[in-house]
This record gives sequence, structure tokens and C-alpha cells, in this order.
Amino acid sequence: PRRIILDCDPGVDDALAILLAFATPEAVTVEAITTVIGNVMLDKTTANALRIRDLAGRSDIPIYAGCPRPIMAPIERKQSVHGGDGLGDIDLPAPASAIEAEHAVDAIIRIVRNNPGQITLCPIGPMTNIALALIKAPDIAKLIPEIVFMGGAAFRPGNSTPAAEFNFMIDPHAAQIMLTAGIPLTMFGLDVTAQALITKRWMDTVEAASGKVGRAAIAMLRAYGFGDPCLHDPCVIAHLIEPSLFDGVDAWVEVETTAPLTRGQSVAAVAPRHRPGHEPNCRVITSLDSPRLFDLLREKLISLG
Ligand code: BDR
Ligand code: CA
Repeated sequence: PRRIILDCDPGVDDALAILLAFATPEAVTVEAITTVIGNVMLDKTTANALRIRDLAGRSDIPIYAGCPRPIMAPIERKQSVHGGDGLGDIDLPAPASAIEAEHAVDAIIRIVRNNPGQITLCPIGPMTNIALALIKAPDIAKLIPEIVFMGGAAFRPGNSTPAAEFNFMIDPHAAQIMLTAGIPLTMFGLDVTAQALITKRWMDTVEAASGKVGRAAIAMLRAYGFGDPCLHDPCVIAHLIEPSLFDGVDAWVEVETTAPLTRGQSVAAVAPRHRPGHEPNCRVITSLDSPRLFDLLREKLISLG
């Protein structure tokens, strides 16, 4: 199995990504879950990671709280498509378990150093924790075999602004630090994740066949569903399980950090003439076998009972 650190801001689709990873131990070992500000404030994203871990009965997986704010960008709070509590306000119980004492940034550094070449990072929220780990401990860049992340929109408009996808918009500086760290990258931006469209029919089928965990997942999705009905974050985990579901192109990708109209925009240079002096830093995923992705998710959610 691929050993991962899942860095997240749950978030309904983050919760689905966590559950998909838990349901697939043959392909993915979750070494740690780390939390960051994003869909809601850090206290809530952290509580939500704990609530999902409790729901799935996986107290063996440590959770570390990370950064409560982006590096530079101001925190602008709009109404979240994830509900007031970040998980669709479905009345999931309050956490019955606790986080670890160590800060997420230190946990990332420690786990990577103790397992050189072994730990894939999977950021599915703003990349603040990842960037701070790379700043505090630059030696870890060559110990990380790959970062598979959800963020950006290489060849299409954003979802937060016309230019920017949400995770890159919240902390564009962190995204830029991650992109330019010299680590092999696989990008799940809106190019692909906006194709992972949830349908009511799929939710009905999963709900009818599920136990407690799958039913809670669908209840969250029904609440989230129609502000942004895409399973963005689970694509990252699905790729670790079944890479043949996806295809993409290699590009040199950077993020605009400053310009008022385009802050958070990812700019992907594919043609060599658009990236003088740069080899591609990123595999930009652009296509998806959506029926097979939703079959996989259905099967895995049902298997959680
Ligand atoms: C990303 O933003 C969040 O709302 C989702 O959890 C996902 O990580 C999509 O733009
Ligand atoms: Ca997310």
C-alpha cells in the first residue's frame, strides 16, 4: 500500500476522501491526518476530522492540528457550501476522541524524516501546513516521493473567483511554495474534479445499500450537493487506488500570488516555448472515467458498513 499523510480541511468532500482511504487498506495506509484552515476555521476542520474518525471507528489513526490561517492572504469568510459546521450540519456527534499534542507541521516533518522516500503527501485543503513544513525543514523535499493534491484549475475558470480555485485562493503563497519545491507533483484541479459530478440517483443507490457510515456520508453529500456537487477531494485517493481512472498532461505550474483580479490562479505551461528554462513540475490530471470512479466509491462506502 501507498503510505500517505492526508492534509485536509473537512469539508464534506474531504470527509469522503478520508472514508475512501479508510475503506481501502489494501492500497492506502493513512499514517496521519493533519488539519488546516479552509472550508471552515481550524477548530472546526479539526473537530470534523475527529468526528469522521469516530464515525469510522479508526482511533488508530493519529490526527494533528495545523495552521489556523494562511501565510499571507487575508481570511475572507463567505458562506461555505459545506454548511455551518463544515460537514453539512447533519448532527454528527461531537468528537469523542482527542488530537495529538504535536503540531501538524512538526508531525509531517518527523514522519517524512523517519520514513525517507516512503511517505506520499496528499493535501486536499489549502497547502499552508505543507509549505511551512518545507520552509522549516527543507531537507524533507528530497525525502518525499510525490505530492498528490487537490487544488488549482489549470485550463478552466476557478470556483472561488473567475480565476481561482478555492484551495489555491485561500493560500496562494503556500501553493506556490509547494509547486516550486522540486517534488514530483500530481495535480487534481477543477479540470478533472469538476467532472466528478454527484447525482441524486447515485446517492439514492448508495444510501439504500449502506450501513451507518455510508448513510452518514450520503446525508452530508445531500446537504453539500447542490452548492458545488463535485467530489473534488476523493479523486486524490481514488488515483492512489486506481490510477487508470485518470489521465493528464505534464506542465510547469505556478500560482499568481499578488494580482488583485487573479490571485490564486494556477497557470500551467505545457508547450516548451511557454516554460523556458523549466521542465514540467507537475502531472496535471485532466480526464476521468466518471462511471468507474462512482462505482468504486459506491462499493467502498457500502463496505464501511
Ligand atoms: C476544494 O475546495 C473545497 O471546498 C473542497 O473541499 C475542495 O478541497 C475544491 O475547490
Ligand atoms: Ca478540501
